[in-house]
Amino acid sequence: MSKYPIIVFEGIEGSGKSFHIRNLEKYLKKKKIKYLKLREPGGSKNSEKIRNLILNKKSNFNKITDLFLYLAARNENYETIIKKNYKKKLILIDRFIDSTIAYQHYGMGVNKKIIIMLNKFILKNLKPSFTFLNTVNMKNLKSRINKRSNKNRYDKFDIKFYQKVQKGYLKLSKNKKKYMIINSNNQINENKKIIIKKIDTFF
Ligand code: TMP
Repeated sequence: MSKYPIIVFEGIEGSGKSFHIRNLEKYLKKKKIKYLKLREPGGSKNSEKIRNLILNKKSNFNKITDLFLYLAARNENYETIIKKNYKKKLILIDRFIDSTIAYQHYGMGVNKKIIIMLNKFILKNLKPSFTFLNTVNMKNLKSRINKRSNKNRYDKFDIKFYQKVQKGYLKLSKNKKKYMIINSNNQINENKKIIIKKIDTFF
Protein backbone atom coordinates (compact mmCIF):
# COMPACT_ATOMS: atom_id res chain seq x y z
CA MET A 1 0.00 0.00 0.00
CA SER A 2 1.16 3.53 -0.76
CA LYS A 3 2.70 5.46 2.08
CA TYR A 4 0.11 8.16 1.73
CA PRO A 5 -3.39 6.71 1.93
CA ILE A 6 -6.76 8.18 1.02
CA ILE A 7 -8.73 8.29 4.27
CA VAL A 8 -12.45 8.89 4.12
CA PHE A 9 -14.90 9.76 6.87
CA GLU A 10 -18.50 8.85 6.20
CA GLY A 11 -21.71 8.98 8.19
CA ILE A 12 -25.04 10.69 8.47
CA GLU A 13 -25.68 14.11 9.98
CA GLY A 14 -24.75 14.36 13.65
CA SER A 15 -22.56 11.24 13.61
CA GLY A 16 -19.48 13.10 14.86
CA LYS A 17 -17.56 12.85 11.61
CA SER A 18 -16.44 16.50 11.57
CA PHE A 19 -15.19 16.32 15.16
CA HIS A 20 -12.99 13.32 14.40
CA ILE A 21 -11.68 14.86 11.20
CA ARG A 22 -10.60 17.97 13.11
CA ASN A 23 -8.94 15.83 15.72
CA LEU A 24 -7.14 13.77 13.11
CA GLU A 25 -5.91 16.95 11.40
CA LYS A 26 -4.36 18.09 14.69
CA TYR A 27 -2.61 14.74 14.98
CA LEU A 28 -1.29 14.83 11.41
CA LYS A 29 0.07 18.34 11.96
CA LYS A 30 1.74 17.28 15.20
CA LYS A 31 3.32 14.28 13.49
CA LYS A 32 4.32 16.39 10.47
CA ILE A 33 2.54 14.03 8.11
CA LYS A 34 1.84 15.73 4.78
CA TYR A 35 -1.87 15.81 4.13
CA LEU A 36 -4.65 17.68 2.45
CA LYS A 37 -8.28 17.81 3.45
CA LEU A 38 -11.29 17.93 1.19
CA ARG A 39 -14.97 17.91 1.87
CA GLU A 40 -17.62 16.74 -0.53
CA PRO A 41 -19.47 18.36 -1.99
CA GLY A 42 -16.94 21.17 -1.93
CA GLY A 43 -13.20 21.22 -1.42
CA SER A 44 -11.92 22.86 -4.59
CA LYS A 45 -13.06 26.30 -5.77
CA ASN A 46 -15.49 25.05 -8.41
CA SER A 47 -16.72 22.26 -6.20
CA GLU A 48 -17.61 24.80 -3.48
CA LYS A 49 -19.68 26.67 -6.07
CA ILE A 50 -21.56 23.47 -6.84
CA ARG A 51 -21.99 22.82 -3.09
CA ASN A 52 -23.73 26.16 -2.66
CA LEU A 53 -26.06 25.32 -5.50
CA ILE A 54 -27.01 21.85 -4.21
CA LEU A 55 -27.35 22.62 -0.52
CA ASN A 56 -28.95 26.03 -0.79
CA LYS A 57 -32.30 26.01 1.01
CA LYS A 58 -33.93 27.64 -2.00
CA SER A 59 -32.88 24.88 -4.41
CA ASN A 60 -35.39 22.18 -5.28
CA PHE A 61 -33.60 19.90 -7.72
CA ASN A 62 -34.80 16.50 -8.76
CA LYS A 63 -32.87 13.59 -7.18
CA ILE A 64 -31.11 12.74 -10.46
CA THR A 65 -30.06 16.35 -10.89
CA ASP A 66 -28.65 16.15 -7.35
CA LEU A 67 -26.73 13.00 -8.30
CA PHE A 68 -25.13 14.75 -11.27
CA LEU A 69 -24.29 17.81 -9.18
CA TYR A 70 -22.58 15.72 -6.47
CA LEU A 71 -20.66 13.90 -9.20
CA ALA A 72 -19.77 17.16 -10.93
CA ALA A 73 -18.33 18.42 -7.64
CA ARG A 74 -16.36 15.16 -7.28
CA ASN A 75 -15.01 15.42 -10.81
CA GLU A 76 -13.70 18.92 -10.10
CA ASN A 77 -11.95 17.66 -6.96
CA TYR A 78 -10.47 14.69 -8.78
CA GLU A 79 -9.21 16.67 -11.76
CA THR A 80 -7.85 19.69 -9.90
CA ILE A 81 -6.69 18.30 -6.53
CA ILE A 82 -6.82 14.55 -5.97
CA LYS A 83 -5.04 13.38 -9.13
CA LYS A 84 -1.93 15.49 -8.61
CA ASN A 85 -1.63 14.81 -4.88
CA TYR A 86 -2.42 11.11 -4.91
CA LYS A 87 0.35 9.17 -3.13
CA LYS A 88 2.23 12.42 -2.42
CA LYS A 89 0.17 13.43 0.60
CA LEU A 90 -2.37 11.77 2.81
CA ILE A 91 -5.74 12.74 1.34
CA LEU A 92 -8.39 13.16 4.00
CA ILE A 93 -11.93 13.36 2.63
CA ASP A 94 -15.08 14.31 4.47
CA ARG A 95 -17.58 12.20 2.45
CA PHE A 96 -16.84 10.48 -0.84
CA ILE A 97 -18.28 7.73 -3.10
CA ASP A 98 -20.19 5.99 -0.29
CA SER A 99 -22.15 9.16 0.49
CA THR A 100 -23.52 9.07 -3.05
CA ILE A 101 -24.53 5.42 -2.76
CA ALA A 102 -25.95 5.88 0.74
CA TYR A 103 -27.93 9.08 0.10
CA GLN A 104 -28.84 8.90 -3.60
CA HIS A 105 -29.38 5.13 -3.78
CA TYR A 106 -30.37 3.89 -0.31
CA GLY A 107 -32.01 7.18 0.68
CA MET A 108 -33.58 8.32 -2.59
CA GLY A 109 -33.78 5.20 -4.72
CA VAL A 110 -31.53 6.17 -7.63
CA ASN A 111 -30.13 3.13 -9.46
CA LYS A 112 -27.03 1.84 -7.66
CA LYS A 113 -25.29 0.41 -10.72
CA ILE A 114 -25.44 3.75 -12.49
CA ILE A 115 -23.96 5.52 -9.46
CA ILE A 116 -21.11 3.00 -9.28
CA MET A 117 -20.49 3.21 -13.01
CA LEU A 118 -20.37 7.02 -13.03
CA ASN A 119 -18.01 7.07 -10.05
CA LYS A 120 -15.66 4.71 -11.92
CA PHE A 121 -15.91 6.93 -14.98
CA ILE A 122 -14.75 9.92 -12.91
CA LEU A 123 -12.23 8.27 -10.58
CA LYS A 124 -10.89 5.48 -12.82
CA ASN A 125 -9.27 2.96 -10.45
CA LEU A 126 -8.85 5.33 -7.52
CA LYS A 127 -10.37 4.00 -4.30
CA PRO A 128 -10.20 5.06 -0.66
CA SER A 129 -7.54 3.18 1.31
CA PHE A 130 -9.66 3.22 4.46
CA THR A 131 -13.07 4.50 5.58
CA PHE A 132 -14.21 5.42 9.06
CA LEU A 133 -17.97 5.04 9.12
CA ASN A 134 -19.42 7.16 11.92
CA THR A 135 -22.76 6.01 13.26
CA VAL A 136 -25.31 7.63 15.55
CA ASN A 137 -28.54 6.49 17.14
CA MET A 138 -31.78 8.15 16.06
CA LYS A 139 -32.36 9.89 19.40
CA ASN A 140 -28.99 11.63 19.24
CA LEU A 141 -29.45 12.34 15.55
CA LYS A 142 -32.70 14.16 16.26
CA SER A 143 -31.26 16.30 19.01
CA ARG A 144 -28.06 17.08 17.08
CA ILE A 145 -29.97 18.11 13.95
CA ASN A 146 -32.35 20.27 15.98
CA LYS A 147 -29.40 22.08 17.54
CA ARG A 148 -28.02 23.13 14.13
CA SER A 149 -28.71 26.81 13.64
CA ASN A 150 -27.79 27.00 9.98
CA LYS A 151 -29.66 24.11 8.38
CA ASN A 152 -29.00 23.30 4.71
CA ARG A 153 -31.31 21.57 2.25
CA TYR A 154 -30.05 18.11 3.23
CA ASP A 155 -30.49 18.74 6.98
CA LYS A 156 -34.23 18.78 6.61
CA PHE A 157 -35.30 15.26 5.73
CA ASP A 158 -37.35 13.23 8.17
CA ILE A 159 -35.66 10.81 10.53
CA LYS A 160 -36.75 7.80 8.44
CA PHE A 161 -34.67 9.08 5.55
CA TYR A 162 -31.49 9.25 7.66
CA GLN A 163 -32.30 5.83 9.06
CA LYS A 164 -32.37 4.40 5.54
CA VAL A 165 -29.13 6.17 4.66
CA GLN A 166 -27.36 4.84 7.77
CA LYS A 167 -28.58 1.31 7.07
CA GLY A 168 -27.22 1.71 3.55
CA TYR A 169 -23.83 2.76 4.86
CA LEU A 170 -23.76 -0.26 7.16
CA LYS A 171 -24.52 -2.55 4.23
CA LEU A 172 -21.67 -1.02 2.26
CA SER A 173 -19.22 -1.59 5.10
CA LYS A 174 -20.36 -5.06 6.12
CA ASN A 175 -17.54 -7.61 6.33
CA LYS A 176 -15.10 -5.27 4.62
CA LYS A 177 -11.56 -4.89 5.95
CA LYS A 178 -11.18 -1.35 4.68
CA TYR A 179 -13.90 -0.02 6.97
CA MET A 180 -14.14 0.70 10.65
CA ILE A 181 -17.34 1.65 12.40
CA ILE A 182 -17.00 4.51 14.85
CA ASN A 183 -20.06 4.43 17.05
CA SER A 184 -20.69 7.93 18.36
CA ASN A 185 -22.69 6.51 21.26
CA ASN A 186 -19.38 5.24 22.67
CA GLN A 187 -16.88 7.36 24.60
CA ILE A 188 -15.55 10.08 22.33
CA ASN A 189 -12.00 9.81 23.72
CA GLU A 190 -11.96 6.08 23.08
CA ASN A 191 -13.06 6.71 19.50
CA LYS A 192 -10.32 9.30 19.06
CA LYS A 193 -7.72 6.75 20.18
CA ILE A 194 -9.10 4.02 17.91
CA ILE A 195 -8.88 6.32 14.88
CA ILE A 196 -5.33 7.46 15.61
CA LYS A 197 -4.21 3.88 16.20
CA LYS A 198 -5.53 2.90 12.79
CA ILE A 199 -3.88 5.91 11.10
CA ASP A 200 -0.55 4.96 12.68
CA THR A 201 -0.65 1.62 10.87
CA PHE A 202 -0.17 3.47 7.56
CA PHE A 203 3.17 4.99 8.61
P1 TMP B 1 -22.27 18.01 5.07
O1 TMP B 1 -21.23 18.86 4.46
O2 TMP B 1 -22.90 18.59 6.26
O3 TMP B 1 -21.78 16.63 5.26
O4 TMP B 1 -23.49 17.99 4.03
C1 TMP B 1 -23.43 17.47 2.77
C2 TMP B 1 -24.75 16.82 2.45
O5 TMP B 1 -24.70 16.29 1.14
C3 TMP B 1 -25.09 15.66 3.38
O6 TMP B 1 -26.45 15.70 3.70
C4 TMP B 1 -24.88 14.44 2.51
C5 TMP B 1 -25.12 14.94 1.13
N1 TMP B 1 -24.39 14.21 0.07
C6 TMP B 1 -25.11 13.41 -0.80
O7 TMP B 1 -26.33 13.31 -0.69
N2 TMP B 1 -24.43 12.76 -1.79
C7 TMP B 1 -23.07 12.87 -1.95
O8 TMP B 1 -22.49 12.26 -2.87
C8 TMP B 1 -22.34 13.70 -1.03
C9 TMP B 1 -20.86 13.82 -1.17
C10 TMP B 1 -23.04 14.34 -0.03
